[in-house]
Amino acid sequence: MKFTLKLGKMSLGTELTFDGNPNWHTYVTGVSGQGKSWEVRDLAIQVPGIGGRVIVIDHSGDFVEANPKQGWDPSGMEIINVRDKQYRLNPFHMNEGETLDDMVDRVVDLVDSGIRLSSGQWAYLVDAITEGYEDGEMNSMSDLVDKVRDDARMNETAARLLPKIRSLGRLIPSGEKEIDWKVNVPGITIVDLSKIKDRAAKRILTEMLLNSICDLRMNGTPGKDETPLIVLLDECQLLSFREGSQEVRILREGRKFGVFGWFATQWINDKNALSALGQAGLHLYFRPAEEDLHKTALKLAHGDRKRVAECEKRLSRLQVGQFMYASGQRLIVSSPV
Ligand SMILES: Nc1ncnc2c1ncn2[C@@H]1O[C@H](COP(=O)(O)OP(=O)(O)OP(=O)(O)O)[C@@H](O)[C@H]1O
Ligand SMILES: [Mg+2]
Repeated sequence: MKFTLKLGKMSLGTELTFDGNPNWHTYVTGVSGQGKSWEVRDLAIQVPGIGGRVIVIDHSGDFVEANPKQGWDPSGMEIINVRDKQYRLNPFHMNEGETLDDMVDRVVDLVDSGIRLSSGQWAYLVDAITEGYEDGEMNSMSDLVDKVRDDARMNETAARLLPKIRSLGRLIPSGEKEIDWKVNVPGITIVDLSKIKDRAAKRILTEMLLNSICDLRMNGTPGKDETPLIVLLDECQLLSFREGSQEVRILREGRKFGVFGWFATQWINDKNALSALGQAGLHLYFRPAEEDLHKTALKLAHGDRKRVAECEKRLSRLQVGQFMYASGQRLIVSSPV
């Protein structure tokens, strides 16, 4: 199946489009205030019209808030507030094809991505989760915190871990209701993480949310004709992009299952992130910061030294709402708004 998105217009009014499948992964960069969030909202609005769903993990609040100037109205969208006590995100649910050891490794690695664990704490958590799971007592993050609290009386490693892990128990919803992601139903879902200040917690929550979304579509036999499922991550410099993380998994394997990542950030230096984001079929460049101009021009010119100076000049002149991208050998610049 092939889908087309409208990206914007060129100066003479020619429409700029992007044909989706097989690679609809998208990466949007540029300095603050240039229009990255505006552009990805514009793209997201189009997705239900072609039968797909967008799930926005909203770290900043730029998506849960209406923007009448743009015609962005979240009132008709599904909004999930993870602080709502009714929801449950159960990290100990075994994904399809996972063994108990795989699941335990995944969860401990996840905790470590937010809270740096010592090797002793790592080993303790592996045992605690395995034991709790086998006893049928590990169904939410607060169950794990309860176990650590019980052990803390006798076990120094548990006692040291408790203050760090306690906030996860509070933040990660442990209610009765599984989140219904509606991955095969057209629409837009916004997960509101904007009220959570703790960056480590945001990162862990994002990983857990992505895991629960990916588990629904990215296991089993790839379905070529799946309706597109887009996971939109603005401010993606907050994310881990570690080997084995859900972000990397989406970028590497998602397209087989019709799952695509749309990532936006001001700038990212992390090597793992850059290598994973190199998988994107479309990279939209808004005006970069002065210090990133040269590096950005090098990328856009695909290392062609003769074109670098021209790219640099064009990039530095981009106005708010204007972006550049490469389409084959051509460099395309959208019109100013
Ligand atoms: N295409 C556009 N048409 C009209 N106005 C725009 C457009 N793009 C951006 N703007 C204006 O610029 C402001 C900043 O845009 P936006 O929030 O998308 O920037 P950003 O690149 O996401 O910044 P940050 O990195 O700080 O999140 C918008 O609130 C809007 O006023
Ligand atoms: Mg933004």
